[in-house]
Amino acid sequence: MPVYQYRLQAMNRKTLKAQPATLPGLPQGGQPLPHHLPPEDHIAELQTALLQWFAQNQRSLPWRVSYTPYEVWISEVMLQQTQMERGVSYFKSWMRRFPDIASLAAASEEEVLRQWEGLGYYSRARHILTAARKIMTEHGGSFPSDLAAIRALPGVGPYTAGAVASIAFGEKLPCVDANVERVVARIFDVDSPVKQEPAAGVIHRWALRLVPEGLAREHNQAMMELGALVCRKKPLCGSCPLAQFCISLHLGITDQRPVPGKRATITPGNAVTGWLHCGSRVFVQKRPPAGVWGNLWEFPGGRVEADESPEQASVREFMEETGFAVRVARRHGIIRHGYTTYRLTLHCFGLEFETPASADTPPLPPQLTAATECRWVSPQELNELAMPAAHRKLADRLFAGPDTHAAQQARLSASDQE
Ligand code: ADE
Repeated sequence: MPVYQYRLQAMNRKTLKAQPATLPGLPQGGQPLPHHLPPEDHIAELQTALLQWFAQNQRSLPWRVSYTPYEVWISEVMLQQTQMERGVSYFKSWMRRFPDIASLAAASEEEVLRQWEGLGYYSRARHILTAARKIMTEHGGSFPSDLAAIRALPGVGPYTAGAVASIAFGEKLPCVDANVERVVARIFDVDSPVKQEPAAGVIHRWALRLVPEGLAREHNQAMMELGALVCRKKPLCGSCPLAQFCISLHLGITDQRPVPGKRATITPGNAVTGWLHCGSRVFVQKRPPAGVWGNLWEFPGGRVEADESPEQASVREFMEETGFAVRVARRHGIIRHGYTTYRLTLHCFGLEFETPASADTPPLPPQLTAATECRWVSPQELNELAMPAAHRKLADRLFAGPDTHAAQQARLSASDQE
C-alpha cells in the first residue's frame, strides 16, 4: 500500500477520538497542542528538530565516543538482547576482555560464551566469534565498510548491518528497532500491526526518507533515543521535539499506536536440575552445539513428566543423561527462568550417589546421552565455564559466600545432611 494512503485512511477515519486538549505526559492544565505540521510536508524541519533535541539530550554511552565499527557492532547485537543499562555493563566488560577484533578472534569459544553469559541466544555470541575470525582472515582485520560485505558476516542481519553501516560509516540507511517502529508508527499514524506487512514496509520506507544526507549516524541514534526516552509506551508528548509533526498525537490516538501484533503464546513448564558432588568437585556436562544453550555447561536435568514429582524427574533425568544412579539429598528451591516463549519453573536438587562413592573419585565414567563432554569441577573452575543463566543462579546459590576451601566444603556437607 502506498505510504500516502496511510495518511488518507487516518484522516478519513470516522471513529476518531476528540483531540486531546493538552499534550499527554503533562499534568492537567499543561501546554496546549502545538499547531500541526503534516510530517510528509515538513521533513526538513522534522529532521532539524530531532537533531537539535538529540544534541542536547543524548545519553553518554561508551560506544558513542569513537564510534569504531567494532564497538557499534557489539553494542547493537547486545542491545538486541537486553535493556540499555545491562547492555552498557556487558559492553564495558566485553571491551575490557576483547578490546579489538584481533583479541576477540584469538579467543576460545568458551571465553566468548562466558562473556556473553546471561544475555541469552548464545548462537549470537558464537556468530560474533566466527565473524571476528572472518574479518581477520578475509578483511585483513578491518571491519568491512561495504554493506554487502557487512551483511555477509555470520549472524549479521539487515538491522545490524544497517546500524553499523549508518552509525559507524554514515551510510544513508535506516535503523528500525522497536523504538523507531513506535516513533514512526505514531508520527505517520500507521494503523496496522507494525511487525507485519504492509505496515513493516511502510515504516521502513518512512524511516529511510527521514534520514538526512550525511547525518545518518546522528539521525538514527536520535530516533532510537527519542523512542527510548520520550516516545515510550506511555509517551511524554509534552517533552517531544516532534509533537507538532505527529499525526497520532493530533488525532488523540497515541495510545493506539503502534498497533500490536498477535502476542506469542507463553508456555509454562516444570523442569528439574540437580548437582552431584564428589569430594569438593561438582558434576557438569557440556550441551551439544545445536539447539538451545548450545555448547554451554549445565547440571543435568530436564522436563518433569506428567506422572512424576520433580524429585523423581531429577533422579530419572540424571540416570538417563549420565547413567549415574542417584537420590535426592537436598532441595534447593526453585528458579524461574524464561527463554524464547517458555516460562520454566526449575526445581533444583542436591543429589548423592545411590551407593556412596569413595571419598574423592567418582565411581564410574558416566554414559553421556545429552552432552558432548563432562567434568568434575571445583567451584573456581565452575566460575570459568559458560552456563545458562538459570544454572549460574544455582551455582551461585551453592557457592556464593566466603570463597575459602573450608567454607565450600562446609556448604557441600551441610547440604548432605539436610
Ligand atoms: N538501541 C539500539 N542501538 C542504540 C543506540 N545506538 N542508541 C540508542 N539506543 C539504541
